[in-house]
Amino acid sequence: MRTPILAANWKMHKTVAEAEEFLNAFLPSLPADGEPEVVICPPYTALAPVVELCKGGPVRVAAQNMHEERSGAYTGEVSAPMLLELGVQGVVLGHSERRKLFGETDEALARKVPAALAAGLEPILCVGEDEGQRDADETAAILTRQIDADLADVPGEDLERVVIAYEPVWAIGTGRTASPEQAQEAAALIRERLAARDSSAAERVRILYGGSVKPENASELMRQPDADGALVGGASLEAQDFAAIVRAAGSE
Ligand code: PGA
Repeated sequence: MRTPILAANWKMHKTVAEAEEFLNAFLPSLPADGEPEVVICPPYTALAPVVELCKGGPVRVAAQNMHEERSGAYTGEVSAPMLLELGVQGVVLGHSERRKLFGETDEALARKVPAALAAGLEPILCVGEDEGQRDADETAAILTRQIDADLADVPGEDLERVVIAYEPVWAIGTGRTASPEQAQEAAALIRERLAARDSSAAERVRILYGGSVKPENASELMRQPDADGALVGGASLEAQDFAAIVRAAGSE
């Protein structure tokens, strides 16, 4: 009942020429029925040409971050109206690399998520524990804290418009994928937490898994009842690999 989403997080990869080369190979390989939904998240510099190449097709384009203000003295930042003008439809928020390397806080995310929704952008909010937190049995507490804080100012009925990506930090770019059971357990916990605020929105919200998703493990991860797709980093850089992951999701 929830259409899965496969999102390609390109991080700081691909020039415009490389993005075009990817799409020329990838777009013709998409399933004709439009399922699962596919989102490409290129770096800012490639957003406009990727939107252009995806125009008229089923693929949506999202940015990897944004500032919550519409404009202002924020050197190096980009706002929702700037993204919308390009035809961008969504934005990744709170990726662990932004939290860890660039000081993204839950307080800032509590402003960014409602700002994205108000602008009509689909936020893909990333949450997840690091290795030390998992070892210390703090996973549930960390996920609860992030979900509660980052979504504090989103009204219950709007929660279904947010896509959540559960991304255990220890699984990102490490080749160490969470087990399907771990992914399911975390996704179920997130859904339960949202259900406490609005049970029908929680039933509809899409919860993705991210962290070393590959063509070989995608279908098992996505077979979990609460996993509604994936946020894919490394394996989304090769058109053939990402196409295989999309096919794996479509067959579930
Ligand atoms: P990965 O990255 O697939 O390379 O582990 C996932 C992500 O950071 O979103």
